[in-house]
Amino acid sequence: MALLEIDELTRRFGGIIAVDRVSMRVEAGEVRAVIGPNGAGKSTLFNLITGVVKASDGSVRFDGTMLSGMSPYSICQHGISRTFQITALFPEMTARENARLAAQARHVRRWQPYGGSTVFGDAARRGDAALERLGLTHVAHRPAGLLSHGDQRLLEVAMALAQQPRLLLLDEPTQGLSVEETAQAVDTLATLLADRAMTVLLVEHDMEVVFRLAHMITVLHRGAVIADGEPDAVRADAEVQRAYLGGLA
Ligand SMILES: Nc1ncnc2c1ncn2[C@@H]1O[C@H](COP(=O)(O)OP(=O)(O)OP(=O)(O)O)[C@@H](O)[C@H]1O
Ligand SMILES: [Mg+2]
Repeated sequence: MALLEIDELTRRFGGIIAVDRVSMRVEAGEVRAVIGPNGAGKSTLFNLITGVVKASDGSVRFDGTMLSGMSPYSICQHGISRTFQITALFPEMTARENARLAAQARHVRRWQPYGGSTVFGDAARRGDAALERLGLTHVAHRPAGLLSHGDQRLLEVAMALAQQPRLLLLDEPTQGLSVEETAQAVDTLATLLADRAMTVLLVEHDMEVVFRLAHMITVLHRGAVIADGEPDAVRADAEVQRAYLGGLA
């Protein structure tokens, strides 16, 4: 059984089929890139997996548990965390506070918002550990909004990581970064993922980043999967060339 099993997942918005009968298997420890042109359905796929958007049809199973119909909160409790395509942190709070709050979002029960000092301390520790793994300890005390763009994107990964997910969804972690910032962020991510302790779905437009980080690639085009396999096979696929890599995007 794969860790994540997606079957015939479909989402319509009015007349648009944003995600069209997508099936996918993601094995534990795998880093799988999801690529495709603008509007292909990548972010909608993430929204479906995390319960932010409800499926029109099809199912998502995580470690054998059916996620369909669960709230985003429950899905997070099951060990799935994400970053957003658009920066989503609290700019006036420090990096450390952002990471701690993210950790609490998974581990504190909603009806007990302060959770007592033990829960609070645990969240702070998980937050700090996540900052360290992303190389952000030296900016932990600074307001998130004052960090460089590159560090802000890494902070968002740290916030997801502070929730100690088994499945991490990264939506364009290098979007808006300079060439230097991208290179640095990708080095950090490569180190983070090297031990294969975490399973990752990565949406990314930069093909160099994709080929550096991904073990497997799924290609979406107009909501549907047009290719799925190892990077070399996907790169050589004629339909992928036409739909995406050839520049028709
Ligand atoms: N909430 C929504 N309401 C209506 N249409 C939506 C909604 N969310 C997405 N769509 C549509 O679904 C399609 C897929 O969008 P989605 O954002 O998933 O694409 P994407 O692959 O993430 O694109 P990009 O590379 O630009 O981020 C698009 O046609 C988009 O306009
Ligand atoms: Mg998107």
